[in-house]
Amino acid sequence: MGFPEVRLRRLRGNASIRAMVQETRLSVDNLIMPLFVCEGSGVKSPVESMPGVNRFSVDMLVEECRWIEQLGIRSVLLFGIPDKKGDHVGYDDNGIVQRAVAAIKSSGNGLYIITDVCNCEYSEHGHCGIVVNGEVDNDLSLEILSKQAISHAKAGCDMIAPSDMMDGRIGVIRKALDTNGFSNIPIMSYAAKYASAFYGPFRDAADCAPQFGDRKTYQMNPANTREALREVELDISEGADIVMVKPALSYLDVIYKVKQQYNVPVAAYNVSGEYSMVKAAAANGWINENSVMMEMLLSIKRAGADMIITYFAAQAAELLTKGER
Ligand code: PBG
Repeated sequence: MGFPEVRLRRLRGNASIRAMVQETRLSVDNLIMPLFVCEGSGVKSPVESMPGVNRFSVDMLVEECRWIEQLGIRSVLLFGIPDKKGDHVGYDDNGIVQRAVAAIKSSGNGLYIITDVCNCEYSEHGHCGIVVNGEVDNDLSLEILSKQAISHAKAGCDMIAPSDMMDGRIGVIRKALDTNGFSNIPIMSYAAKYASAFYGPFRDAADCAPQFGDRKTYQMNPANTREALREVELDISEGADIVMVKPALSYLDVIYKVKQQYNVPVAAYNVSGEYSMVKAAAANGWINENSVMMEMLLSIKRAGADMIITYFAAQAAELLTKGER
């Protein structure tokens, strides 16, 4: 049967029938809010290239988290911006992220706290591992990354998210957590993380641009999907509980394939550049910001993401609780 008996417009006639046949639904439960924490007190400093995003000192972060929890958001992902940098700074038990985690938890906040594990925000060179003779040394990096993971776990975080893209890190971090009494802490692996220009505004926010070279020797070539599946497969075999694809919007095909092929939850990172482009276009009056935001987030979910890490989390949560989908 075809037209004129078949008319797909019949199921688009009004809002009720459209809602009844809607296949994908975004929920506040899907959203994870990334937050930047810096030194000092009373600090809420805007990130210029990311309108609406701020760096918070620990005291202000606790306030922000209270609001985020009230919006119904379940989880935050923390990035630390220390004053003094160095390869050992990331695993200082009294470091900025460690203090932030402890402060949020002791304020009685029930948010599920995920911490980013990487060396780029903490080191002077801005690379995600340790640099030896001008190159990022894979195996030496694993040591400091697992120290960082343990330190975050000791501070009380609920989940670790390694974003460095060193080979073998998931297995090493899993083992380190297990042998230190943290076998219940899950790992969300940035499994398929591409060397992307969409990270530009984040590097401004976290002050973590590489001081020489680029990240192409460890992050993936944007042209590759089969390699992404290998990364995911390896990370799962090393003990990743959740695998992430990053960025999200230019990589929906990768999200889709990962979801089809593996039976672990999939996270997608709607990154800084994807956020800032919407903000810039909206500020010019060229697009309807909320509609574009919701359409993008929905598309990431439709592609197969169970969780979406997005700077839009609070803005989207406000719309979702008002009943917009
Ligand atoms: C590295 C890290 C980056 C992002 C998250 N973790 C930057 C990079 O790899 O250069 C980017 C996030 C974003 O752009 O929103 N620790």
